[in-house]
Amino acid sequence: MGAGAYGRVYDAWKQDPEGFWRQEAEKLHWFEKPKTIFDVGLGTYGRWFPDAVTNTCYNCLDRHVDAGRGDQTAIVYESPITGKAATFSYSKVLEEVNAVAAVIRSLGVEKGDRVIIYMPMIPEATFAMLACARLGAVHSVVFGGFAAHELATRIDDCQAKLVISASCGVEPGRIVPYKPLLDEAIRQAKHKPAHCLVLERDEHPYDLIDKRDVDFADAVSKHRGESVDCVPVQATDPLYILYTSGTTGSPKGVVRDNGGHMVALNWSMENIYGVKPGEAFWAASDIGWVVGHSYIVYGPLLSGNTTILFEGKPVGTPDAGTFWRVIQKYSVAALFTAPTAFRAIRKEDSTGEFIKQIPMPSLRTLFLAGERADPDTIKWAEEMLGIPVIDHWWQTETGWTIAGNPVGVEILPVKYGSPTVVMPGYDVQVLDDAGHPVSRGTLGNIVVKLPLPPGALPTFWNADQRFRDACLSEFPGYYKTADAGYIDEDGYLFIMARTDDIINVAGHRLSTGAMEEVCASHPDVAECAVIGIADPLKGQSPFGFLVLNSSTRKSAEEVEREVVKLVRDEIGPVAAFKQAICVKRLPKTRSGKILRGTMQKIADCEPWKMPATIDDPAILEEIAEALRERGHAGAAA
Ligand code: COA
Ligand code: AMP
Repeated sequence: MGAGAYGRVYDAWKQDPEGFWRQEAEKLHWFEKPKTIFDVGLGTYGRWFPDAVTNTCYNCLDRHVDAGRGDQTAIVYESPITGKAATFSYSKVLEEVNAVAAVIRSLGVEKGDRVIIYMPMIPEATFAMLACARLGAVHSVVFGGFAAHELATRIDDCQAKLVISASCGVEPGRIVPYKPLLDEAIRQAKHKPAHCLVLERDEHPYDLIDKRDVDFADAVSKHRGESVDCVPVQATDPLYILYTSGTTGSPKGVVRDNGGHMVALNWSMENIYGVKPGEAFWAASDIGWVVGHSYIVYGPLLSGNTTILFEGKPVGTPDAGTFWRVIQKYSVAALFTAPTAFRAIRKEDSTGEFIKQIPMPSLRTLFLAGERADPDTIKWAEEMLGIPVIDHWWQTETGWTIAGNPVGVEILPVKYGSPTVVMPGYDVQVLDDAGHPVSRGTLGNIVVKLPLPPGALPTFWNADQRFRDACLSEFPGYYKTADAGYIDEDGYLFIMARTDDIINVAGHRLSTGAMEEVCASHPDVAECAVIGIADPLKGQSPFGFLVLNSSTRKSAEEVEREVVKLVRDEIGPVAAFKQAICVKRLPKTRSGKILRGTMQKIADCEPWKMPATIDDPAILEEIAEALRERGHAGAAA
């Protein structure tokens, strides 16, 4: 990169990474300041700030209240789906968090214990996260769109002592009762949490079932006014575990530490998102995803911003103007969302009538991430909003941007289709399958030279070896992002595809492997393959190919319907698994590998070639024919 501001910042980091992060660490509060910045001898690839002691909740709340920011709005709750709205100042959030922390403590939760939070987008969910952080307990938020089985897997994996939940979530046109899902999850789990703290929402009453259950509002009212000291934790102690799709049905528990996380996020707010303390920042995502952890809760609060907690959808709650009204109402300076949200808005309001009616002078920048930002959507957003639209690329594992356009440092020229350049902290390289660097412009495996920066995962929960096997061993000395792409002559990164079975459906990360496990569990399915096909709204959507057992007495349509229901029941509605088709056989190579890439091309109507290694060429023709019969136009070879 040239010698502009971005180049200078990146070089400053590259020349002295420890000095760079030491300086950033100075901006936060430590009970014991870091003396060692990075120790390569610890953990799977080294640890950041190993001798420092801190508390993330202290840095998000107490620090700001002590500095006179107590009256500023910390959290805005805007819920067009229920018609509710509320604002909470930093002092008020601190009071609520103290009360929730006192409740959690009274239920026996101590430093290092795990607490699952299975809640919709309501303020109590953020209070619960911060209360755990205050006590040094490790939270694991589970997205509300996941089914009981997924929740059970997480309860078992992290051995949760407590589950904090609510009576329901609210989706367009329906209430999603959480309590039955929670009860079923606990029934399925081998590990039984000691307690469930459940908030009854106005939208749906619930029955407490046994002495395990505690009413949230009741307990909080008993502990209101109590103050709970922030428990000092090592910077390397876990703040949270966030389960994300892996290459099998068992999700990976991405671990986030306390110290590195707050240093990295604090840096990102000013330098990547270009917002100053006091300004309103809105990540229109969900606290169940990494974007919600980093940029609804921790990032904005660490840097003293006002954050927006939005319970609604970009369209239909009540219309495609809802985002703009929130931005106007709270003078939002930066919006961060997934490209899917903009595709949904564009579909409803292609000429931007709502945008014209709702002036948003405060809005300076739109950030997109979570899935590939297609140039069409970026250009439409640029044209409609008249502000820079910034794509940036990162993952649950890293917790913050790997490649982006650092608005607070310098806005670099946008190249459509590229999330721009690598951020300080990351030495990104592109390697071929044998681990050799490829030339500029050549497609390869995108890897990050170790160590990963502060904030990125140190390991998977209780699974160091799985972390090494999944992320570190294929390219020794590097972290494998599992994304493929290239770097062009100007240093711009292009993300082209995943190298594993992960697909992105409406910005939600899902594993086709996990869906295959569920499909295969249907008694009438002998074999199956699930692939991600192109979807004009959601980017990708899952598509299942099923081979029936010869003994089945059911019709293909019947099994297809049952399998669709099974995936919804086992993984959850968020899997958006709605298309499955029975075929006679699956196409395979002579060595038995299913030719998913070719099936995807056929389903997407892209031109495809008969693979040279195919076992039986007639099978692909059969699949194309089966798709055509069901109204999916399979392109001919
Ligand atoms: N709790 C329960 N169910 C949920 C849920 C939650 N928190 N979130 C989603 N679901 C359900 C939906 O109701 C839907 O159910 P259905 O099959 O009965 O209709 C299903 O999961 C699939 O959800 P989704 O893929 O989101 O589709 P949608 O049609 O409901 O909404 C959009 C489409 C575009 C409005 C929506 O996907 C969206 O807002 N996307 C923005 C992307 C985003 O925020 N990504 C987060 C990462 S940055
Ligand atoms: P998640 O862990 O849910 O954030 O998903 C991470 C994955 O989403 C990445 O590994 C990419 O495959 C994809 N992704 C996220 N952001 C982008 C982006 N800006 N461009 C292309 N792909 C992206």
